[in-house]
Amino acid sequence: MKILILHGPNLNLLGTRETDVYGLATLDSINAGLEKLGAELGAEIEARQTNHEGQLLDWLHARDFDAAVLNAGAWTHYSYALRDAIAAIKIPVVEVHLSNTAARAEEFRHTSVISPVCAGFIAGFGVLSYELGLRAAISLAQK
Ligand code: DQA
Repeated sequence: MKILILHGPNLNLLGTRETDVYGLATLDSINAGLEKLGAELGAEIEARQTNHEGQLLDWLHARDFDAAVLNAGAWTHYSYALRDAIAAIKIPVVEVHLSNTAARAEEFRHTSVISPVCAGFIAGFGVLSYELGLRAAISLAQK
């Protein structure tokens, strides 16, 4: 079973970026924790990050995975291309966010255009959002 962990724009800056909102964990440390959890649960984990929307679409189109955990960053709020790619592939994608986007001050963060086509939505628990998302993705991939 192969689970992709997909990180969108600016998430390469985790650890230094708005640490009051996103915490101190780096992307590498998050990925290392997910790889360890994946191994415990019997899943092969592959983590990728991109700042280029088309790259993320190409990774989804490749359909070489059983489920994905996706933090789409700001693309969450406006990318219909990403929404359509998730709808097209018919592989479960679990939407995750470090922050509780519904509780953020900026109005635009309250909308997710990808939620309707994702298997579920986990937000607001920091790194734990990813861990819960991985458990959900593994469970969905087993069905
Ligand atoms: C985020 C929330 C988004 O609104 C923001 O653009 C991000 C990170 C989160 O993980 O909380 O880049 O997806």
